[in-house]
Amino acid sequence: MKKCLFPVAGYGTRFLPATKSMPKEMLPIVNKPLVQYGVEEAIQAGLTDIAFVTGRGKRAIADHFDISYELEHQIAGTSKESYLDSIRNVINSGTFSMTRQREMKGLGHAILTGEVLVGREDAFGVILSDDLCQNNGGDGVMQQMVKLYKQFRCSIVAVMEVPSDEVDKYGVIVGTELNKGLFRVESMVEKPPVDEAPSNLAVIGRYILTPDIFDILRDTKPGKNGEIQITDALNRQAADGCVMAYKFKGRRFDCGSVPGFVEATNFVFEHFYDQ
Ligand code: G1P
Repeated sequence: MKKCLFPVAGYGTRFLPATKSMPKEMLPIVNKPLVQYGVEEAIQAGLTDIAFVTGRGKRAIADHFDISYELEHQIAGTSKESYLDSIRNVINSGTFSMTRQREMKGLGHAILTGEVLVGREDAFGVILSDDLCQNNGGDGVMQQMVKLYKQFRCSIVAVMEVPSDEVDKYGVIVGTELNKGLFRVESMVEKPPVDEAPSNLAVIGRYILTPDIFDILRDTKPGKNGEIQITDALNRQAADGCVMAYKFKGRRFDCGSVPGFVEATNFVFEHFYDQ
């Protein structure tokens, strides 16, 4: 397994006006854009072929994962050069490809759009960079999931318990617990009303998907909010017994919301900022 898909076409309306002409994925958590945290997590997991499903107005993401000749030339040999260490490491460790999603038809549609980049040879990771995950120096969440994939060879979703009045923001799973924190998923539902949710185990933005998901997605009708939902496609795989849900180790920050973004900023500043 080498590939990781990043759906990054969303508008980021909750951060307007900051995101009017800048991709939300480029908003910095301290001194690093949100999307770089996700890409570093993928690379740590050995997923070095990074595939972005982008959209209009997202060129800054492609530029970020390339050299900036003039800037690098200017600061070469000065004390400022070390500021580029983290992004140079990322660029030297991976390959980066992009395709555009022309219409916003949901996460399932974004993933299907990425088929041309990830192909059908192997399972692949999906990281929603809005969810910033940290596991203090230990295996990142994607790495934890890759290890599980090697054991089960099924699609895997990362889950966490959320307060029961927040389940309507997430895909929610029902499953049988095999080991502590590891479930075989029986069914999944996208953003159920709070009083109809089958559990409080919510899917966060980390997935490993087997490539048969593409045919299922092609055949998936628009669901919640009229969008093609990855949750609905996974629910079909779950009916065949091949979706696992994993309560990951570490913390997750919802950087798609302003409070989560601020919390992540404070956390990273306190624990990781060293320049
Ligand atoms: C998406 C998925 C949802 C999942 C969530 C995790 O929703 O559709 O199932 O729980 O990501 O962040 P979104 O947050 O894009 O509305």
